[in-house]
Order: sequence, then structure tokens, then C-alpha cells
Amino acid sequence: MLELRGFACGYGLIRAVDGLDLTAPEGMITALLGPNGAGKTSTIMAIAGQVQAQAGSVRFAGADLAGLGPAARTRLGIALAPEGRRIFPDLTVGENLLVGGYTRSSAESRATEESVLALFPRLRDRHRQRAGTLSGGEQQMLAIGRALMAGPRLLMVDELSLGLMPAMVDQCFGALLDLRRRGIAILLVEQNTHRALEVADHVTVLVSGRKAYEADGAQARQDPALVDSFLGMKEPA
Ligand SMILES: Nc1ncnc2c1ncn2[C@@H]1O[C@H](COP(=O)(O)OP(=O)(O)OP(=O)(O)O)[C@@H](O)[C@H]1O
Ligand SMILES: [Mg+2]
Repeated sequence: MLELRGFACGYGLIRAVDGLDLTAPEGMITALLGPNGAGKTSTIMAIAGQVQAQAGSVRFAGADLAGLGPAARTRLGIALAPEGRRIFPDLTVGENLLVGGYTRSSAESRATEESVLALFPRLRDRHRQRAGTLSGGEQQMLAIGRALMAGPRLLMVDELSLGLMPAMVDQCFGALLDLRRRGIAILLVEQNTHRALEVADHVTVLVSGRKAYEADGAQARQDPALVDSFLGMKEPA
């Protein structure tokens, strides 16, 4: 579905990510891990067309994305639940979802909204509540739900579990598993290595903008300490 080759991105003269090969196949969860500042957010923002690509190629569903802006990428089926969630606090849950479906017809929006509310029943209960008054977990559900409103074939989630209680993390991960079963490609950035490894079909670790480790999920699960060592989280002996 998504394929990056020799990819680089950054900010003006600053290169945040360099020489990255990465794929996110449909019906699979690809975890992109790495310490703070490794370039995870930059990578997915560049895939979404919101950070400047500097070298290499990004292909999606057979098309080269070079030169396409964020709206065109959304229309092709790329959606992002961004770091910090970025929901509109003064709009209701329902209004936030509508914004996410702006590229689509109202009939498509209604049908998709129904499937989002089925995936996250809490959002149905709080449909008319101002989004800024939702709990952190509910806001994350809304951010994912809003991304899904575009009807994506690739869903990127940046920092799924950050700041959430375990029960909320469970619900959000449960939703990802559901979406994977539906054949959506998922690119997951996650601080919680343990949780990411539980669901990942493929794991890539970025360190200082470069790929430091790559394995399929089963292999990475056999040695989570190895993955953690790249993240600088290994406890001193
Ligand atoms: N707007 C910006 N302008 C200049 N440099 C930036 C900008 N945003 C990020 N960077 C730099 O790019 C590098 C990668 O940052 P990025 O946010 O992609 O890392 P990350 O892996 O998502 O980190 P974290 O785990 O803290 O979210 C960092 O060195 C950061 O300082
Ligand atoms: Mg980040």
C-alpha cells in the first residue's frame, strides 16, 4: 500500500530523516518506534504532505506522491491521527467527525460515521459534547474516528497511548485490530514498545533519523529487550 524508498524529509536545511526504506502493507500494523527526536512524527507528517520531503520516493497504492499536497493525499486514502490529537475543542464530537469527512459526499459521510460510532461506542454517547471536555482517551478515539471519516486505506496514528489509562489504551488498540481485519494499512508510532510489539506485524526503529532496526513482529516479540535497547530504555544492569 505505502512504500518509502531512500526517503528523506526535514525542515529547510535540517534533515530529520534520511535514507529510510519503509513499507506499510494493507491489513497489517507497521510499528515505527524510536527515541524522542528520532524523526517518527516528521516521517508520518511528510507522508501526509505536511512536512517537506527532501529525497527518495513515497508511493501509495501504485502512485508516486511527489508534489501532492495534504488534501490530495487525503483523497487518495491517507489519513492521520496526529501527535497531540489536534481535535477542535470548541466543536462537538459530531462536528469534529464531519470535518474529517470533508472530502466526501454527505451519504458517504453518514455511512462512515455510523461505522466509526460502532467502532467507538463512547463517541456515540458523547456525540453532542464539546470535544474539549472529553477525557484524553475519548479525545484519542475522536482523533482516530475523525481520521477514519475520510475513508482511508492507510491510517497513521502518532503516539496512540500517550497519557492514556490502560483501559483506554486497550480500547484504542482493540480498534486498530478491528481496522486491520478490514484490510486497512496501519502505520503506528508508539512510545509504549510493549504494547506496540503485541500488535505489530512489522517493526522499524528509527534512531537519529535513520533506521536502526527492522524485523517482523514475531521476531521482534522474541526479543523485546533488543528493541528497547535501540530506544535507550534498557535498564542498567
Ligand atoms: N518544525 C520543525 N522545525 C525544525 N526542526 C524540527 C521541527 N519539527 C521537528 N524538528 C526536528 O526534527 C527532528 C525529529 O523530530 P520528530 O518530531 O520527527 O521526532 P519524533 O521521533 O516524533 O520525537 P518524539 O518521540 O519526541 O515525538 C528533531 O531533531 C526535531 O527537533
Ligand atoms: Mg513525535
